Amino acid sequence: MTEDGLGRPLQDLRISVTDRCNFRCDYCMPIENYGHDHNFLPKSEILSFEEITIIVESMLKLGLKKVRITGGEPLLRKDICSLISMIRNLDSELDIAMTTNGTLLGKYANNLSQAGLNRVTVSLDAIEADLFRKLSSTDITPEHILSGISAAINAGLPVKVNTVIIKNYNEDQIIPLVRTFHSMNIPIRFIEYMDVGGTKNWNYDQVVTGQEIRDVIIEHFGNVSANESGYYGEVSNYWRLKDGYAIGFIESVSSPFCSSCTRARISANGNMYTCLFASKGNDLKSLFDLSADKEDIGLAVKAIWEKRTDRYSEIRGKLTNNPMPVEMHFIGG
Ligand code: GTP
Ligand code: 5AD
Ligand code: SF4
Ligand code: SF4
Repeated sequence: MTEDGLGRPLQDLRISVTDRCNFRCDYCMPIENYGHDHNFLPKSEILSFEEITIIVESMLKLGLKKVRITGGEPLLRKDICSLISMIRNLDSELDIAMTTNGTLLGKYANNLSQAGLNRVTVSLDAIEADLFRKLSSTDITPEHILSGISAAINAGLPVKVNTVIIKNYNEDQIIPLVRTFHSMNIPIRFIEYMDVGGTKNWNYDQVVTGQEIRDVIIEHFGNVSANESGYYGEVSNYWRLKDGYAIGFIESVSSPFCSSCTRARISANGNMYTCLFASKGNDLKSLFDLSADKEDIGLAVKAIWEKRTDRYSEIRGKLTNNPMPVEMHFIGG
């Protein structure tokens, strides 16, 4: 097992397979900065499936347990099911998950499941149609996303839903969202709005804390009780309604979890980041371009992880002169 400078094992890898997305969520890719003329990464700069597979293989030797495929929107990457098969062929036990906005799940759910994907997490910030379309600048309807979620479940893929709640933005969606996913018995997890990326001027006043969200839920559904703690390094804590339905809270602003952070991240252009808030990555793509083989990549990854001391969320606010962190659609959340 490979540990970083603070004794944390390398257990999870989040792979962004594209920086493109068909949505323009205002806090992630605001339309005014990501117009038709926006320059996304050219194909020549994006990791190939073979390169991604070598990175995963080298990390398996270091103790990797979970891979999460993200974007941008990962289902926009051509032939994405082949990548899932290639990773699955490395290890039948590896947990392979995907975070998606759900638009293309109806089309791909069966193929993803057959390729060896274990589960999906769908991002959804509003259930009310007009608000949903406004927040994500899209013509897609929430019903379309719900039908994608049903397709995933029918294909045997367990689903979780992720929702970012922002003050004066979508707080009124907390109850309708809980009601919808409670009735479908699908876990929903509320994420505190983070200061990641540089396109919007984040400030503490916009954050709705997990506790504030629980208070709204308690007012409507009655008391909640804290669930037993989850697996080492789990980002979400869970609280149960009286009937046992579990609701998750990812409280990285009000209650940071850096001390058990086991996540490495790879951007679509092959940079390895050791923190969601890193401003600089470690360029693995260049190593491939210099004909590095899997042993070379394994040594590079190990050295990067062993040097790691990141704990941004724990020291947020105490930092002066913090350089601009990398964009969320680029690093994949
Ligand atoms: P499970 O494997 O289902 O437990 O999912 P996960 O929590 O690993 O993955 P998911 O993509 O659903 O994570 C949810 C969200 O939590 C991300 O999109 C981020 O917004 C946030 N998050 C995940 N990992 C980290 C992290 O290391 N640091 C911080 N600050 N936030 C994180
Ligand atoms: N704070 C919290 N979550 C965010 N996401 C994107 N930007 C932010 C942010 N600033 C979420 C998306 C998606 C996941 C990949 O990350 O809504 O659920
Ligand atoms: Fe929205 Fe996710 Fe696309 Fe960002 S990557 S614009 S959060 S759907
Ligand atoms: Fe991990 Fe960085 Fe998030 Fe802390 S802020 S939990 S170190 S990714």
